[in-house]
Amino acid sequence: MSSERSVLSLVQIGRSAKKHAPLGMGGSFYGLDHKNREGEADILAAMAAALEQDITHFDTATGYGNGYSERLIGRFMAADPSRRERIFLASKFSSDEVSAQGMMQAIDASRARLQTDMIDLYYIHWPRTGKDLRPWMEALETARQQGKIAAIGVSNFSVAQMEQISQVGRIDAHQLGYSLLWRFDEQDIIPYCIDHDISVVVYSALAHGILAGKYDRQLDFVSDDQRWSILLFRDEVWPHVYEAVEAFKSVAARTQHSLAHLALRWLLHRPGVTSVLVSAKNEKQALANAQVLQIDIADQVLDELTAVSDQVRQHIPDEGNPFGYHP
Ligand SMILES: NC(=O)c1ccc[n+]([C@@H]2O[C@H](COP(=O)([O-])OP(=O)(O)OC[C@H]3O[C@@H](n4cnc5c(N)ncnc54)[C@H](OP(=O)(O)O)[C@@H]3O)[C@@H](O)[C@H]2O)c1
Repeated sequence: MSSERSVLSLVQIGRSAKKHAPLGMGGSFYGLDHKNREGEADILAAMAAALEQDITHFDTATGYGNGYSERLIGRFMAADPSRRERIFLASKFSSDEVSAQGMMQAIDASRARLQTDMIDLYYIHWPRTGKDLRPWMEALETARQQGKIAAIGVSNFSVAQMEQISQVGRIDAHQLGYSLLWRFDEQDIIPYCIDHDISVVVYSALAHGILAGKYDRQLDFVSDDQRWSILLFRDEVWPHVYEAVEAFKSVAARTQHSLAHLALRWLLHRPGVTSVLVSAKNEKQALANAQVLQIDIADQVLDELTAVSDQVRQHIPDEGNPFGYHP
């Protein structure tokens, strides 16, 4: 048996006929100035570069910039109709009110913003604690029968929440946070997905840029920077995370891979993982990320990364998600 992991197969989510590379293009476009559209040309170039590299899974959500991300991707696809045919398009919705009518309206609004009749994968973006979530699933199944969506996803759900909505429909994918620095869903959620043939789609694969190696030991965010709400940057957690990143960096230097490539590739080989999303704010980042599908990484290197990750996870509290968001 080879000790190198090089070949990555195309993946399929739900019954969609569209097979795609296991790396996807994130659409949250953090940092983009929505009002002034500064950076928009760079994002459009990133999307074009990703597609050129056969990265055809595009992920967005109603909530990203209050519809802005969907509209931008809609414009990107409308500029060249062959793009829509190739793209495996995913979007999401959730709100404080759980109703079938609200979900159906949201799907129609997403289709309008994305300028498409059919969305390949539509997720419930966040569950609502303690609520009956089945009306959302009933609406998603109706939309599937009507051909408005092809596959159904959930995101940030517990096992109990997945079991509840599975009473009235079929979950095809679960989108969850996962990285060398955040592995809590390995305990029960990923095993449940494997057992129930649910594709796992990963977000925050680079842990908010930490696994791109862009932060110093001393964090210098301004006091109202949103990143302070992320658990990994907390005073009592960050020194441990920083030490782990230094250890990951030395593996990267020795093996002549970038840290981001190691982090993405490690995820692409984890049990149950179907697809890994990563954001890119410009063409350069999109091209760098796409290269991860081409490199060879020895099993032993992946094991070394796991060993460092095993150490640091003892210092990271499990609070359900890294955002401290529990709607
Ligand atoms: N379902 C959910 O609740 C949920 C939550 C979060 C995200 N998501 C989805 O997952 C996607 C990805 O997640 P994410 O944006 O949170 O996190 P991420 O992919 O872990 O981090 C992305 C950040 O890493 C940096 N980066 C990316 N490629 C790079 C490269 N080649 N070199 C250096 N830096 C690089 C960029 O930072 P800079 O901008 O600073 O350069 C980018 O903003 C989102 O766009 C969204 O579609 C879903």
